[in-house]
Formats: sequence, C-alpha cells, structure tokens
Amino acid sequence: MDILEALGAPFQHKSLNLANRFVMAPMTRQFAPDGAPTTDMADYYRRRAEGGVGLIISEGVGLDRLSSRNMSRIPKFHGREPLAGWARILEGVHQAKGAMAPQLWHVGGVPDFYEPSTETDGLESPSGLIGPNLPGGRPMTQEDIADVVASFGRAAADAKRLGFDAIEVHAAHGYLIDQFFWSETNRRSDRFGGPTVQDRARFGADVVRELRKAVGSELALILRVSQWKTNFYETKIARDPGELELWLGPLASAGVDIFHCSQRRFWEPEFPGSDLNLAGWVKKAIGTPTITVGSIGLSRDVMSDFGGGESLVNLGSLQELARRFERGDFDLAAIGRPLLADPDWLLKIRAGRFEALSSYAMDASKLLY
Ligand SMILES: Cc1cc2nc3c(=O)[nH]c(=O)nc-3n(C[C@H](O)[C@H](O)[C@H](O)COP(=O)(O)O)c2cc1C
Repeated sequence: MDILEALGAPFQHKSLNLANRFVMAPMTRQFAPDGAPTTDMADYYRRRAEGGVGLIISEGVGLDRLSSRNMSRIPKFHGREPLAGWARILEGVHQAKGAMAPQLWHVGGVPDFYEPSTETDGLESPSGLIGPNLPGGRPMTQEDIADVVASFGRAAADAKRLGFDAIEVHAAHGYLIDQFFWSETNRRSDRFGGPTVQDRARFGADVVRELRKAVGSELALILRVSQWKTNFYETKIARDPGELELWLGPLASAGVDIFHCSQRRFWEPEFPGSDLNLAGWVKKAIGTPTITVGSIGLSRDVMSDFGGGESLVNLGSLQELARRFERGDFDLAAIGRPLLADPDWLLKIRAGRFEALSSYAMDASKLLY
C-alpha cells in the first residue's frame, strides 16, 4: 500500500516542474576536498534522483566570500573547478529525470566546533554574537553587508547559468541570515537591526531582492527558515501568527516563492490552539507554497541522532504526513536522514516494502554512497 500516494502528484511553480512532492533535504557531507565537488558526489546525488525524489536540494554551499564557509570540505559555489563539479552533478540529476537546487549558505559567526582553522578567522556576524551572550564572528560593517548581499547575487547568477531548476537560500538554524532575524544575535542600531522582527528581516529581504535582480522573475526561489537554532531549540523568532506575518511577509514581497519550514519534528504544532505546524501556518498566513520537513519516517529528531544511538522506522509519521498533505497544509515534503542511509528509501515506501526500510544511525552520515 502506498500511504503517500497523494504526494506522488506532480508540482509546478515557475521554473520548477517536479514529478512528485518529495524533496531531498539539504545535508552537509564534507566530501569536497578544498571545496571542489568530486565524481563520487555526482554519483551520490544521481542515485538519489534515480531513487525517485522530485527535487534534490544540495548540501549547503559557500559563496565567493571567504567567511561564508567554516569548514574546508564544504563545497564552494564559485570558481572554475567547483562550478564545473556542480555542472557535472546537475547533469547526472537531470539525466535521472530529477530536478535540483543549490543551497546557498553563509555560516555567519558559527565556527567549526571540531577543527577551528585559520580559514575561519574572518567569520562575521550581525553583532559578534551567535547566541545569548555567546560571542561568534566579528560585527559586520555596512560595507561587509553590501559585499555579502552582492556575493549571494553572483552565486544565484551562476546557478541560473548552470541550469539549476531553483535556488534555495539557507536562512535557518542559526546561521548568518537567521542571526539577523534573532533579537539575541542582532543588536544593531542601523537599518538592519531594531525591536521588531520586521526590522530584523531587512537583511534577508535585501539578499532576496539581490537574487531576484540576478536571476529574473521566473527562477523559483526557496527560502529555508526555522524557529529553532542549533543548541537553542525552544527559541521563537515569531511568537504568534501575527509576528510570523511581520517576519516572512516582507521576504515574500521581496521575491521568495516557496518557504522551506524547518522543524525537528514536523508533527509538532507551531502555536497553541491549533495543530498546524510551521509549514501549515506559513501557507495560511503568507499564502505561498511551503515545504515541510523533520523526522518524516523516523522516531527521533536529527539533533538527537548527532549524539549517537539510532532512529527507528516510524510508519505512523507517514500516515500523519499524508493527513496533513490532504488537508492542504504544505506542498512538498523534504526527507533528510532516510535518504542518506538509503538512496532507494522512497521507492521502497511507495512500493509498500516497509519491511525493507532500515533504521538510521549517524554512521550513515560518514559514508558517501
Ligand atoms: C548530516 C546532516 C547534515 C545537514 N546539513 C544541513 C545543511 O547543510 N543545510 C540545512 O539547511 N540543513 C542541514 N541539515 C538538516 C536537514 O536538512 C534536515 O532539516 C534535518 O535532517 C531533518 O530532516 P530529517 O529528520 O528527515 O533528517 C543536515 C542534517 C544532517 C543529518
């Protein structure tokens, strides 16, 4: 039985023509020595497209601004060799009838906790903070901000030139754009800071406008947002639906087509008084298509798995996903860890071969296959 039959329907929005509603979530793998994607990485992405996901979102990729990456094996999205590597990856995905978007990423002030290196000495953030009273990066000048915005625009132009089907911008999980959103990490008194979330969304909106300028109106632009941040799980950028509108409304006006609403567990309600999750609320409040994500098919959330142990197969979550989809809460569903462990996860699900599914342990994130 295909519990998720309804999600097999195609999806069309601007440049995006997807065979179904399943998305591979962006996942940093650190398999790019010196930042250039390898042929192993091309095989890895092609296998996931062959495994039937409609859209693949790449691991987070660095801009032509040194401080956008905090680890040397995160792939770059600039320069001749890295971009040639991305063109090969995209070709494989297209040959397998998949679609792909790069995830443009600036880490802000977040260091590589494991291997601090001189390459990260130039880390930058809105106010020199990455959490409440937690230092990280040097405070950005207005010139730094303008340079980073321009750098996002150049990456977007390259994505369009290479023929990507959409672009995702990482504005979630406590990295640069999210550091601007959050009052604890944005203490600025210029036009990029201020008491309301609308004030603090201005940097993100500038980035989105720059991307639009670089790629025109037809290339679909996805913005990934989250309330939670690494190590700060209970944080809320928007404390109620009104604040959600103040936060994301200006970003939609600036040119976001689709919001990718990151939760650790998609079944959790976002605000009291309703069972709607973040994707459900954004669709209702802002009106754009949304992507939901977080523990689909698994028993535990991603951050628990980073600590070791195992996530078990959770078929009940698939039924819950189908219920929410049929109610119209979201348009696309992103799958992370299950697709790291098994490129054929979706083929098995859709064929009802549940006995063939495996649990997930972090070891799967250390291998590339
Ligand atoms: C190994 C690994 C790396 C990740 N890297 C990124 C990343 O580069 N960008 C991002 O937005 N999210 C990243 N995530 C979060 C996933 O995109 C996803 O939101 C999360 O794993 C929850 O989905 P899941 O429960 O289906 O795994 C990563 C997750 C994992 C497991």
